[in-house]
Amino acid sequence: MSNLFFQISALFVHLFSARTKYYMHSPFVYNLLVNVLEKKKVAPVLTKIMDFRNEISHRKNKKLFFRGIGAINSAHFKSLKEIERKLSVPHHIGKRYYHCIQNFGYKNILEIGTCIGIGTIYLAKANPEAHIYTLEGNEDCIAQAKTNFEALNIQNIAIEEGLFEDTLKATLEKMKHVDMAVMDGNHQYESTITYFNLLLPYIHEDSLIVIDDIHWSKGMNKAWLEIINHKQVSLSLDFYRNGFVFFKKNRLEKEKFKIWVND
Ligand SMILES: C[S@@+](CC[C@H](N)C(=O)[O-])C[C@H]1O[C@@H](n2cnc3c(N)ncnc32)[C@H](O)[C@@H]1O
Repeated sequence: MSNLFFQISALFVHLFSARTKYYMHSPFVYNLLVNVLEKKKVAPVLTKIMDFRNEISHRKNKKLFFRGIGAINSAHFKSLKEIERKLSVPHHIGKRYYHCIQNFGYKNILEIGTCIGIGTIYLAKANPEAHIYTLEGNEDCIAQAKTNFEALNIQNIAIEEGLFEDTLKATLEKMKHVDMAVMDGNHQYESTITYFNLLLPYIHEDSLIVIDDIHWSKGMNKAWLEIINHKQVSLSLDFYRNGFVFFKKNRLEKEKFKIWVND
């Protein structure tokens, strides 16, 4: 089955089984939906990020080289517009990360997969006191991400350059603990499970791990199911495009929800 066919059938399953806040019996999840993920008030900084995205995607002549690492293994050029539209986190999801960081007060944040740093900008702007560590292996992306951070005068981001296989462990050792991690690169079964297992010794009861593209392929779907059934995961939220996992110890039983957010 092709990835596209798999994604469409997974979307139908999600649409038929997902709940909105109106049918949510968990107080924690209800609060998360109403007060964080569906927050309607738009902070001026989020409008500025959107303006910046529009501005860079209009730089028509700028192309970056992808030498084929991770799940996409062909070498090719991509325009900034394509990268901003297709590889970077969509604005409504960046906004959710931003509000989660503000609501839970996360300070030690890891992003696996910087690309040109669009997702990283939401993480960094949510809390200027936070330390954002972001991992990327593509030299052209790293250079563009650095230019973007400079243009927005962002000081709280450290880019760890190189393949995740070489940088993840050392970065985690440097961080000592992880409040929030966004896994957004190398979307394959084995790598997703490997990165998740590497993260586990560094998370705590209040940590959040976000896994992107959980229904992008059969392999990612399999990785997601394995993660939500892991004994340390107490609560999982499947938003179709991505999934959140929490590790609270005092929950009596594991809870798993498929959710539809009204952004
Ligand atoms: C989907 S993009 C990240 C998007 C970014 N989080 C955002 O929202 O703007 C994934 C990135 O991971 C990088 N990547 C994939 N596999 C990698 C690996 N094994 N080591 C290092 N970088 C990798 C790719 O070069 C790509 O830039």
